[in-house]
This record gives sequence, C-alpha cells and structure tokens, in this order.
Amino acid sequence: MRAWLLRCAVALCLWPVAGYADELLIPDLKWVSLAEPALGPLLFEPPEPNNPYTRGTDLQRQFEVGRIAFRSPGILGGLAAREGMSCNSCHRSGGTNPDFFVSGLSDNPGTFDTTNPLFSTHTDDGVHNPVVIPKLFGIKHTAPYPSDGRFETLEAMVDHVILKEFDGFAPPPLIAEALMTYLEALEVRPPGMPIQKSAQQDLEEASRHLNTVSWVLSVGDVETIAFLVNASRRHLEVIHNRFDGLEAPQSVLLSWSLSLKKVRLLAEQERFAEAEEALQETQQMILAQGPSVSAQEGNSLYDPERLRAYVFPPTTP
Ligand code: HEC
Repeated sequence: MRAWLLRCAVALCLWPVAGYADELLIPDLKWVSLAEPALGPLLFEPPEPNNPYTRGTDLQRQFEVGRIAFRSPGILGGLAAREGMSCNSCHRSGGTNPDFFVSGLSDNPGTFDTTNPLFSTHTDDGVHNPVVIPKLFGIKHTAPYPSDGRFETLEAMVDHVILKEFDGFAPPPLIAEALMTYLEALEVRPPGMPIQKSAQQDLEEASRHLNTVSWVLSVGDVETIAFLVNASRRHLEVIHNRFDGLEAPQSVLLSWSLSLKKVRLLAEQERFAEAEEALQETQQMILAQGPSVSAQEGNSLYDPERLRAYVFPPTTP
C-alpha cells in the first residue's frame, strides 16, 4: 500500500508538473523545490573546486573522468538514470543541494529518503525517513560512512550508493577508480558567489568532456570511452532542450551529438586513430558553431525570465 501511494506521489513529481510546465525538458526541474525562491539550481551553479593536480599527470586526468562520472546519470541505474539524475543532482559540485525536493521522498527541501522503493529495489525499509543530503567536502577524512557509520571505507559507501541505493551496475574499472580520485580530491568549497548558468558555460563544459574523451581514447579502454561519450551526448541533450522551439541551434547540437556517436562506434571497433580524428572533427564543430548557438541564448530557456515563464506559465483569465 505504502509503495503504491509513494509511486503515485513521485510519479506526479517526476512527470510533467501539473499546472506548471507542459513537458519537462530540464531534468533538474524534477527534483527542485518549487517553493519561492525557486529555480536556483536551474539558474546557478555553485562555485566548484578546481582540479588540484598538475596538468598532464594521470591523477589530473582521473579527476576529470571522475568529475564527468559524478555529473552523469550513466553512473546510476534504474529510475535515477532514466530520469537524468546523477550524484551531482544531490551533491552539487560536491556540496549539498538545499533546493532538492522529490514529493514523497523528501520532507523539507534538501532531504531525501535513501531507503525508498522507487529508486532502489534493494534498500526499501518501509519507512518514510528522509535525511539531510550531506556535502562531500573533506569526505576522505571522515570514515566511517554515512551518518550511521555502516561503511568502513569510502569505496564501500560509493559501491552501496551506485549498486544498491540507485540500482546501478558496477561501472568500468577506470571510471570507478576515477570517481574515487575525484571524491578524495574534494576538500573545500572555493569562496565566491554562485555562477549564473549560460549556454557559453555549458558549451565549455562540453569541450572539457571532449578533451577527457581524447585522453581515454589514447588509453584505448573501449568501455570507458563508451561511458564518457554517452555522458557527453547526454550533456549536449540537456543543452539542446534549453533551446526548445529554436530549430537552428537545436539542429547544430544534434549534429555534434551524431558526430560523437561516430567516435563511439569507431572506438567500439577498436579503430582508435579514426575515432580520434572524428573526435577532433566534433571539437572543431563546437569551436566553429558554438558562438552561433550561444547567440540564441536570449531566446532560450537559459534566459531566467523565459525559464520562469516556462515553469510557471502565466495563467490566462
Ligand atoms: C537523490 C539524492 C542523492 C544522490 C543522487 C546521491 N546521493 Fe549521496 N547521499 C545522499 C544522502 C541523503 C546521503 C546521507 C545518507 C545518510 O546519512 O544515511 C548521502 C550520503 C553520501 C555519502 C556519505 C557522506 C557522509 O558524510 O558519510 C557519500 C560518500 C555519497 N553520498 C556519495 C554519493 C555519490 C558518489 C553519488 C553518485 C554515485 C551519490 N552520493 C548520489 C543523497 C544522494
């Protein structure tokens, strides 16, 4: 009975928010509290820790791979992966997310019931017991984990999160190792104001992804390449959706995504040199066409006023 009720409550939240938006183009909208002041996570990024490692070292590259894994729904399984949720949805840039809210699984914004029957087929305890989403800064120094200290090591904790709490599969070994490198490097939130999200910033993020793909191509690990290419394509899809109704930028974004698909297909046939060429082609496309995409930002859902009108459409009398 409880599971059924919960399913209804969460379905209401994860599907189009009745009375607000027609469709949900923006995954983060599914777990944001719509109480005022709303939409923070859709408009701003918290300041993010820099990669602390020297350029060109393995640790520096692992941090980059781990950072992408942390931000990619592909690291989780089940409902979370399908709905576009990632570690970063809750632990934003390694911090907490005071605006996180899923009806039926949160009580106050910023809380989540990790022992629920919807995101997990393993951890349901039959009780509505949301807890505050913790920040992960300095996490490597604070064993055991989580608040009740069930797990002696960070690795065991992260395995539990991926495999049990979010019904995922064991990630490729290089991804798992890189995620640990990333988490262990999260020391403090850098000072500074939240940064307003922009198309430009999201395109720079896409280029950062592709530089990382290039490194993994040189290692020749097919599973990891496929994971990162899928993560990059998903990121492009999120950008694409913010240009809802604007044909020109959307077709450009789609062409980049298809170009990336070629990279994955070539890598899967172990044609790494050709895959690298295809990747460089995609990088060139982003460089050449990125400005024309950014130029449309004012007409897109990156624009705070347009976003607000999309989420809370003005009611016609
Ligand atoms: C839907 C929200 C959500 C998502 C997604 C999520 N977490 Fe968490 N995480 C939590 C909550 C809530 C806790 C606190 C659990 C507790 O104390 O029982 C937690 C606890 C943790 C802890 C232990 C923190 C401590 O101080 O002991 C780690 C480490 C962690 N999460 C890492 C991750 C990683 C890595 C991912 C992605 C693979 C992830 N989390 C995805 C909500 C989330």
